Amino acid sequence: METINAQTTTNTERKKRVFSAIKPTGNPTLGNYIGAMKYWGGMSDEYDCLFAVADLHAITVAIEPKELRENSKRLFALLIALGVDPQKNILFMQSHVPAHAELCWLLNNYTMFGEASRMTQFKDKSRKAPDNVNVGLFDYPVLMAADILLYQTDIVPVGEDQLQHVELCRTIAARFNNRYSPTFAMPEGKVPKFGARVHSLSDPTAKMGKSEGSGDGTVFILDKPEDIMRKFKRAVTDSDSKVKAASDKPGITNLLTIYASLDDCTIEEAEKEFENSDYANFKRRVGEAAVETLRPIREKYEALRKDEGELMRLMQSGAEAASRIAKRTLDKVYKKIGFVRV
Ligand code: TRP
Repeated sequence: METINAQTTTNTERKKRVFSAIKPTGNPTLGNYIGAMKYWGGMSDEYDCLFAVADLHAITVAIEPKELRENSKRLFALLIALGVDPQKNILFMQSHVPAHAELCWLLNNYTMFGEASRMTQFKDKSRKAPDNVNVGLFDYPVLMAADILLYQTDIVPVGEDQLQHVELCRTIAARFNNRYSPTFAMPEGKVPKFGARVHSLSDPTAKMGKSEGSGDGTVFILDKPEDIMRKFKRAVTDSDSKVKAASDKPGITNLLTIYASLDDCTIEEAEKEFENSDYANFKRRVGEAAVETLRPIREKYEALRKDEGELMRLMQSGAEAASRIAKRTLDKVYKKIGFVRV
């Protein structure tokens, strides 16, 4: 819809705001790259972007202190290496902005127990770790709603599994806006159209896992070239020899998806390119594409990790920039509820 008058011009001056976050659990994989992280660096031209390392979310599942610490620094540096320029985006650690935990508490009181109980991820994770069904795990989507709502977010790029949480966030926002007055922008979840799901190379019916124990099925973004090549060479295929995507060829389909995403082409174009290729050659070429895409990222990452002081300074300035925006929303929320402010 395009009406041209002075009013719409002023309204569109503000770029739409994007917020997304990723948990520092495990070691980021090629699946994380293709499904989400790949797109983050390029968004700042069109959108006003905030990206967070969701460290507060990471403790809902048991994690060792040194692992949380290392994963957090690694993810922060990796995001910069992937093209999220801290000069053009606000990149920060969630726990450095206390407004997230504060708004989470406030929003808890506008979230129904039944609504949170219906979250698929809560049910899945409860089933997987029945001895650690903690209240944080239950509250996870409310903290996520706080993340999003603090920044008056318009668009939330997420994986498909997170859409239900964005829906809950909208429910909470609408309830609050109705109870008081318009306070939160209504965010919209957006799943990248293409390559959203990458499967394990050793078991192409399963998701590419983030844990270190996933063996040769998982390619990590920071893997060395020889490891990447070995994993692709060992990738599971199937009994015929056609490089074609099909539902009964999950291994080849997965490899084609990976190749198409890395090469920025369509699956059909990739199929055409490997029409006369055998599986061994195809797997080698997909491996090479991964090596070449990931090499500059790993190199930039390694350079960033050599200067821990600089990394801390970047975290600090990201947190300050995020806090300034978050504080405006949080203050409004406190006032509207009726808290005495000094
Ligand atoms: N829960 C998200 C995931 O697992 C990560 C996340 C935390 C997030 N807070 C967010 C994503 C806010 C989008 C917006 O992928």
